[in-house]
Amino acid sequence: MKVLVVGGGGREHAIVYALSKSKKVTEIYAAPGNAGIAKLAVCVNIKDTDIENIVNFAKDEQIDLVVVGPEASLALGIIDELQKAGIKAFGPSKGAAQIESSKNFAKDLMSKYNIPTARYEVFEDYNDAISYVEVAPFPTVIKYDGLAAGKGVVIANNFEEAKAALKDMLLDDKFGHGKVVIEEYLEGPEFSFMCFVDGTNVYPLQLAQDHKRAYDNDMGPNTGGMGAYTPLPFITEDDYNQALNEIMIPTAKALVNEEIPFKGVLYGGLMKTKKGIKVIEFNCRFGDPETEVVLPKLTSDIYDAFMAIVDGKEPVLTWDDKYYIGVVLASKGYPGDYKKGFIIENADDDHIFHMGTKVDEKGNLVTNGGRVLFAVANGNTLEEANKKANQLVDGIKCENLFHRTDIGAKAYKKF
Ligand code: AMP
Ligand code: GLY
Repeated sequence: MKVLVVGGGGREHAIVYALSKSKKVTEIYAAPGNAGIAKLAVCVNIKDTDIENIVNFAKDEQIDLVVVGPEASLALGIIDELQKAGIKAFGPSKGAAQIESSKNFAKDLMSKYNIPTARYEVFEDYNDAISYVEVAPFPTVIKYDGLAAGKGVVIANNFEEAKAALKDMLLDDKFGHGKVVIEEYLEGPEFSFMCFVDGTNVYPLQLAQDHKRAYDNDMGPNTGGMGAYTPLPFITEDDYNQALNEIMIPTAKALVNEEIPFKGVLYGGLMKTKKGIKVIEFNCRFGDPETEVVLPKLTSDIYDAFMAIVDGKEPVLTWDDKYYIGVVLASKGYPGDYKKGFIIENADDDHIFHMGTKVDEKGNLVTNGGRVLFAVANGNTLEEANKKANQLVDGIKCENLFHRTDIGAKAYKKF
């Protein structure tokens, strides 16, 4: 079988890696892929949002299955276009992708179907939003109503911060012209619950936790994620059942009821609060970097699982019993300004996924993004996995990278 993976980050490298283990898959293509993916797949130079050329490529090459990673491609309707061309594709339609592409849509859906989340109001007008935050309790959370590459959320600690965020989003159109959602601030540990979903059928993957802050002990600025681990000892059976039965299944059912059934990976960004599990956000795709720790744990065939969802059948999902920890190596300066083009050596391990790399004109592997590599290790305990992941990281030679050393540490220090 021939598979095309759309995207070119660590998430797509992990998807390609999992597909490369399938006995059914003979050829893998990636658009556009990256230097790490190129070792397992043929990278084609088509941007992940260039839908027309992706559809043409899939038709010309008679691709049996397309798997789409990034939200931007999904929000543009890539799945609808592939289906129109008669190509099987794993991912949600443009309509169902709104659960991520519009915060307003997601919040209204949750409100209509009583899915637990923070209280909220939606504003289009700057002055109305200002009047609201003048009397709001702080901290308060201000979210741009559209895709903003993880930068559209501001936790405002006082009126001045709220005003600045509202000015950016509503007056200066920093992310484009749009609305904002202002919501109640919630507290508690966050976790990521990814499920394969086909209409009302929900098939959970393993739980994972991302680490958003740049530095150890959750210090420093928010990033796209600096590491992840799975499974999660702090989630009890009760928490899990609540998340599945009160959030993930009702959300899948709600989308069917709204006549935009979801097919693909539904990602619940959830928080364990004192008042139960609540939704922080939904994504319409695999999480990054969660996917890079969850898929290595899968022992069943991922091609079969993707195809089962596409064909409306039940997927087989089995897992090993190890803990996995993954550490991001990021360019110094990230998430602010950083330089690219530094030579990377000794990053050949199978479990080092590439997030932002390229091969330069001299044939050297070099840094090519904010987040550059993701080193994953497993162990019988989280502590062992953390130690092995850090050893893997220490072996990588590059003068312009930094990383956190405490991924998963909160969990293993407590248990
Ligand atoms: P989002 O893009 O909606 O996931 O928001 C990004 C991050 O902002 C989340 O991972 C949380 O850490 C934080 N956040 C978002 N909404 C809230 C909320 N209502 N209360 C507290 N923190 C939040
Ligand atoms: N890890 C967060 C995300 O994928 O959006």
